Amino acid sequence: MNSLFTPVQLGRQHLSNRLVMAPMTRSRADDAGVPSELAVTYYAQRAGAGLIISEGVFPAALGKGYVRTPGIETAAQVAAWKQVTAAVHARGGKIFMQLMHCGRISHPSLLPEGVLPLAPSAIKPAGQTWTATGLQDFVTPHALSVEEIAMVVAGYRQAAHLAIEAGFDGVELHAASGYLPEQFLSSGSNQRNDAYGGSVENRARFVLEVLAALTAEIGGDRVGLKISPEMNFNDITDANPQQTYRYLVEQLRGLDLAYLHVALFGASLDYHALLRPLFDGRYLIGGGLDQQAAEALLADGRADAVVFGAAFLANPDLPERFRLGAELNAPHKETFYSPGAQGYIDYPSLGA
Ligand SMILES: Cc1cc2nc3c(=O)[nH]c(=O)nc-3n(C[C@H](O)[C@H](O)[C@H](O)COP(=O)(O)O)c2cc1C
Repeated sequence: MNSLFTPVQLGRQHLSNRLVMAPMTRSRADDAGVPSELAVTYYAQRAGAGLIISEGVFPAALGKGYVRTPGIETAAQVAAWKQVTAAVHARGGKIFMQLMHCGRISHPSLLPEGVLPLAPSAIKPAGQTWTATGLQDFVTPHALSVEEIAMVVAGYRQAAHLAIEAGFDGVELHAASGYLPEQFLSSGSNQRNDAYGGSVENRARFVLEVLAALTAEIGGDRVGLKISPEMNFNDITDANPQQTYRYLVEQLRGLDLAYLHVALFGASLDYHALLRPLFDGRYLIGGGLDQQAAEALLADGRADAVVFGAAFLANPDLPERFRLGAELNAPHKETFYSPGAQGYIDYPSLGA
């Protein structure tokens, strides 16, 4: 019977426990997308996780969607990430980089001069986003041409190459939360009538092409995929999510991915029951877990590893606290995305 502290093989990596730190945007990078030195401490503090999945990182400047988020495109970004991965590895940890292309969930002020956010279709998302000058409405995005789609896919591939160069153990494709990959998957944001829109086969094409590019570049055993069916975040809607995700996951067979990471938030259906039998690799469950729920998922074999977000943010030594049954620090929402050390590297460990 598996528990939080039984080791597990995830693709090429041998994890010492089954506790995974969720990808979490923390907005502490500089305006050139270079992670700060504080990030070295932040991730090193959390190296006791079986696996850390980094905050969302834009694969190319056109994929940036939030202030002070980091990238993996320039030499300065690669050099800064090397410090992070070295610190995590020095403490015996493993770390994947999450590749997050925000697509239409962005704003021209966050992007290179004169360009619009990219999307499958020119459909403006409802809502507002934080910019350097405060909250602003989303804009109508630029609908990618087929040639431009190929360039975006190539950008992901180059990003995976650079992530490995920067010392990461693998990459996770962020296809959840209403960002570019999910914008292609979902019928509400994808109203194309070419090979990338319409049928479920066509809507899934972009995600599958990106995965093919990533696996060709660094090997499927160093690539994970995150999805969140029916999360309906960032104005994303799909007419038939069961059909969409069933098809997508069926197509993953043969890619030999390191894992599939499914985070559910109030979905109308138990997608784990639907999707897990369709997937032939390691299955990670996240979203609103506590220790008891996580242990039950592992003991019943419903998950191979469990993913914790806010609890890991607030408890650098979360595995140790779970092992001892110790109390947890509470996360402070006000400092999730604020600049600086406060609420980032100052959560205490036990005995500190
Ligand atoms: C501050 C914060 C930032 C987040 N940023 C990301 C992100 O960059 N990429 C992502 O896939 N999920 C992101 N998430 C979602 C988490 O990965 C995770 O799915 C979510 O927190 C649910 O897990 P939890 O209930 O254990 O916190 C973020 C969550 C938090 C709290």
